[in-house]
Amino acid sequence: MTTTTIETTTDQKTQFLQETLTGLQSEPKFMLSKYFYDATGDRIFQQIMDMEEYYLTNAEMEILQYQADQLSQAIAADGSSFDLIELGAGDATKSIHLLNSLMSSNLEFSYLPIDISAHVIDDLEENLPKKLPGLNMTGLNGDYFDMLKRAAELSNRRKVVLFMGANIGNMNIADAEKFCISLKEILSPNDFLIIGFDLKKNPQKILAAYNDQAGITKSFNLNLLNRINKELDGNFNLEYFDHYASYDPASGACKSYLISLKNQIVNIGNQAVHFAENEHVYMEISQKYSLADIDQLAEKTGFKPLQRFFDQNQYFVDAIWKVD
Ligand code: AVJ
Repeated sequence: MTTTTIETTTDQKTQFLQETLTGLQSEPKFMLSKYFYDATGDRIFQQIMDMEEYYLTNAEMEILQYQADQLSQAIAADGSSFDLIELGAGDATKSIHLLNSLMSSNLEFSYLPIDISAHVIDDLEENLPKKLPGLNMTGLNGDYFDMLKRAAELSNRRKVVLFMGANIGNMNIADAEKFCISLKEILSPNDFLIIGFDLKKNPQKILAAYNDQAGITKSFNLNLLNRINKELDGNFNLEYFDHYASYDPASGACKSYLISLKNQIVNIGNQAVHFAENEHVYMEISQKYSLADIDQLAEKTGFKPLQRFFDQNQYFVDAIWKVD
């Protein structure tokens, strides 16, 4: 067993401050959902995944539980050794099924989980080797592309990139296209991408997943204000902001906003930010796709769709693409 961590060298706090101020000095205001995931945010996201309304996790879990062998057969391809690079690995409770199947089929591979949360990578490095003795793994803490480039430099083996959990949904369509193109540029012909999409479905079902009764999604969004208070010396009063979720069935865009409940000034470090009463702050997109949207994304960005894996309800799909 080999376990190593590579930490990012960029000054993360400076970047957090700059990106926060840029967003709050824009018109309309926005924040970046990648900052949701501090230790508290990780914990609230776990609660979201356990919610009745949040169908995504169970749907994709079902795919990994019941179709891991088919997935690992597809990944095995010509039987050559490879690096399995997971973007946004989380606690790997889904990918562990795939890792298990890959290990029992005697394939030669390394697992390289990438996550923006240092906390997540630390946990993985502590716990995964216990669950999967003999697993060769290198945790990479940082931005997807910085770490992907690092991963590409670590070996010249065939790459299989795992991007599950509908994390692509946190980009609008234009950014998803740019993302796939950048990914394709780092990869080589015949490398694979396994990518999870939340499918368009009954709009009520989608909206409920982002507007839960218990207010867990609300506290997930408000937690970013708390994080700014703690890490960037802010003075947001969380009682003066509400969460508003919307889903547009035509575009498939599910968006979250925070709404300022009064005219107020918030200080972040030495900067003052004004919020008008009812002013909205765009927090997050969770883009939903049709199967045609997904194939179009592949074709536009230099990938060839190979195979699709669905849950029983067809709420979710994990698609395998090959670099064309
Ligand atoms: C982790 C991006 C897949 O968009 O469904 C859950 C994050 N935000 N509830 C999603 C999230 C609000 C989640 N992803």
